[in-house]
Amino acid sequence: MITQKTVQEVMNIARVEDVIGDFINLKRRGVNMIGNCPFHDEKTPSFTVSPSKNIYKCFGCGKGGDSVRFIMDHEHLSFPEAVRFLAARYRIEIEETENTAQEIEQKQVTDSLYIVNDFARDYFTDVLFNRSEGRNIGLSYFKERGYRESTIKKFQLGYATEERDEFTKKAIDKKFNIEHLRTLGLTSKSDLDFFRSRVMFTIHNVSGKVVAFAGRTLSSDKKQPKYINSPESEIYNKRAVLYGLFFAKEAIRKADECILVEGYTDVITLHQGQIENVVASSGTSLTREQIRLIKRYTPNIKIIYDGDPAGIKAALRGLDLVLESDMNVKLVLLPDGQDPDSFLAAQGTEAFPRISP
Ligand code: UTP
Ligand code: MN
Repeated sequence: MITQKTVQEVMNIARVEDVIGDFINLKRRGVNMIGNCPFHDEKTPSFTVSPSKNIYKCFGCGKGGDSVRFIMDHEHLSFPEAVRFLAARYRIEIEETENTAQEIEQKQVTDSLYIVNDFARDYFTDVLFNRSEGRNIGLSYFKERGYRESTIKKFQLGYATEERDEFTKKAIDKKFNIEHLRTLGLTSKSDLDFFRSRVMFTIHNVSGKVVAFAGRTLSSDKKQPKYINSPESEIYNKRAVLYGLFFAKEAIRKADECILVEGYTDVITLHQGQIENVVASSGTSLTREQIRLIKRYTPNIKIIYDGDPAGIKAALRGLDLVLESDMNVKLVLLPDGQDPDSFLAAQGTEAFPRISP
């Protein structure tokens, strides 16, 4: 558990006006500061921050508290997570005491889920590189798309065989818990492998831990969904994960801009083309949580969605969401039928700098 001393230190150093000022625009009014409340819709600001008392209060919706409370509500974090978030932001060292039995048990479950996902990632990448089925079908597919081997390794791409339960059997042999395999969606209720005959994309959280997978079919059978994705679990909240963010965060900070694309393949192609500040919302339409995640690194977003009616519609929706979050947004329209991946392949790396305003 985090000690009371650390909690106090965080409260003292993470001044409420700085913490909140990272997320919303505050203006001085007398001894206080005011802004538009991020927790309810309002036109006239009633969200008040008191630097002297180190607290905030919204006179519209009633929400209020200290800087930790704000981060808990705004970022959807638990109390210890919010303290850690602020400690990291303000470089405060965390002092901890022994955990309770319940905390240990909870941590053990999430730790084992990550270990199972690591095992699955190793399995899929091994099949891709070292088995003839993987090499002939999966690896040659990625190479045809122009991916270099270093890119494939970096993004931990893989291949799932056509065998019905090879992965599950291997995992059971290794003494992994079948319930964990099911929770993570790797194994079906009837003990079969969930991902079969698909090229695999590994999905990481912002710290690089493997939280989920997406499998793309290579079959032209229209009845097959193009992608299937891992279900949500204790370690995967898809509304709060951005594909590629782990690899992009430094570049986003440096460029002070985040490029938002639709697909896994767009992220990888751009990244390989040395445009590394790029992420995609994975297996869902863009969410407020994802935008907030970007806001930790930059207030500037550039949306480059597919140049088809669905892409344009999603881009306009994204534009509204970004503006609502009080960030700056640019929209790049691609020719009909193109996505960033195909556009870059056709134009070369110069394409995006040239068309951006
Ligand atoms: P796209 O159909 O544009 O796929 O979907 P893509 O990633 O560009 O793939 P390629 O280039 O045709 O191979 C964009 C994104 O929407 C989600 C995925 O995140 C995908 O990357 N999606 C799409 C799904 O989750 N399920 C689907 O069946 C289709
Ligand atoms: Mn696409």
